[in-house]
Formats: sequence, structure tokens, C-alpha cells
Amino acid sequence: MSQVDSRPDRMPRHIAIIMDGNGRWAQLRGLERNEGHRAGLESVRDTVRAAGELGIDCLTLYAFSSENWNRPKEEVGELMRLLEYYLDEELEEAMEKGVRVRAIGRLDRLPPSTRAAVQKAVEATKHNGELDLIFALSYGGRTEITDAARRLIRDAELGHIDPDQLDEKTFSSYLYAPDVPDPDLLIRTGNEYRVSNFLLWQIAYTEIHTTAVMWPDFRREHLERAIADYQARERRFGRTPGQVAADGGEEPSG
Ligand code: IPE
Ligand code: IPE
Ligand code: MG
Repeated sequence: MSQVDSRPDRMPRHIAIIMDGNGRWAQLRGLERNEGHRAGLESVRDTVRAAGELGIDCLTLYAFSSENWNRPKEEVGELMRLLEYYLDEELEEAMEKGVRVRAIGRLDRLPPSTRAAVQKAVEATKHNGELDLIFALSYGGRTEITDAARRLIRDAELGHIDPDQLDEKTFSSYLYAPDVPDPDLLIRTGNEYRVSNFLLWQIAYTEIHTTAVMWPDFRREHLERAIADYQARERRFGRTPGQVAADGGEEPSG
């Protein structure tokens, strides 16, 4: 039975997930790490399906970090291959369910076949509107902010931006996916309590749920548990509890 309050105004609009624990899941079973990555694909399928059914607008999945390039070549290769396989395999269901596939990160570093698979899925699903499924690939939060700063400086040099007028809203318009609202809920599986360079700008006021469940074991019930946990929180955005009650729980605008 789901403990989730499914009223739309109570649901997180954007959920971001650090899918961690594939390697340890495999090692505990005496398997190769790559077996854990393979098993994790089923968790991705189940989670994407559940997010769509629960009416979530955006789901961002941390699939490969900038730092993950330092892993052994065979593991990186398998992760890329699995991503290509997933995107190809799931395209039909994405079209049926109205899933719009997107990607954030330094895609220029991906092998050509992976980049092509991503581009194909993004292009084919670009008019879908039920769920934005955003893969963070070759993604690092500091690189995203640095890339934004670089483009911003160029625009300032061209006179399109006045440094004295620069504010957070303008800055965030230079990030990889400026139209996507900040995550309401960040889930990290795999019993770790760190951010690992994920969405550093965007998680300023995100609620964090961590679980010891390893990613290959993560299923709809765990997603629902995380949402129920989120719904039990009071998001104060710096205000006092009394102010929050008076404002009806709305996020302050200024
Ligand atoms: C998450 O699982 C998958 C990626 C980082 C790509 P890990 O591979 O990090 O698994 P652990 O943390 O070593 O168990
Ligand atoms: C974070 O997991 C990156 C992804 C889930 C893609 P890691 O396993 O790479 O993170 P650290 O190294 O434990 O911080
Ligand atoms: Mg890990």
C-alpha cells in the first residue's frame, strides 16, 4: 500500500537520483561489478515507469559523473554500452508513455556511438510532454557552473550582459537545462551521504533522502517511501515554522 499523498500540489515536481551501489551489490553476491550495472537497468526501468504513473514532471538520473571517467576502461565501456542499450530498448515505451529524454553534461566526451544513441532518443522524444527524463552523463556540477560562467563572460564581453545587473535568475539561465525547475527531492541510494558533484547549483533547497538500498534493489516501493518522507518534511526556505503556516506552505518568492 502506498503512503504517498497523490494530490498534485503535494507531489515533488522534480526528483533527482544518485543511483549508487551497483558495484557493492554485485560484490556481495560474488559477481563482477559490471553485473551490478546490468542489474541496475531494471531499477531504472521500474523507477521511470513509477515516476510517470505518479505524475512526476521531471526525473533526473545521475548515470555517469565527470569523475567516473577515472574508472577502469572496461567498466567505463560497459556503462556506455548499457546506456546505449537502454536508450535503444526503451524508445518505444518512451513514445507510448510520453517520456521526453534529455541529457545534461559534457556529452562531447562520450564515445561517438553513445552520443549518437543519446541524440537519437532526445530527437525522437522531443515533443513528448508527460515526463522529462534527464540523464546526467559525463556530468559534474562544478563543470556545469564553470561552463555557465564561460558563456556568461563571453556575453558580457559582447555587451549583452551588464555585470552590475547579474542576478541568480540570469546566471541560472546559462546552466545546462535552464527550463527545468530545481529538484524538490534528491534521493541517494547505496548508503552514502554525499553529493558527489551532482547539481550543485540546483540543490540549494532540495530535500535529501538517503537509503541503504543498493541501486539494483531499488523499486517503486522505495521511490514511494522517499516521496512519503519528502511529504512529511516542512520546507521552510529560511522562514520560521509560524511564517510557513501563515503562508500556507508556499515557497517565498523573494
Ligand atoms: C553507481 O554504482 C553507478 C555509477 C556510479 C555509474 P557504483 O558503481 O558507484 O557502485 P558502488 O558505489 O561501487 O557500490
Ligand atoms: C556518483 O556515484 C555518480 C553516479 C551515481 C553516476 P559514485 O559512486 O561515482 O560517487 P562516489 O565516488 O562514491 O562519491
Ligand atoms: Mg558508487
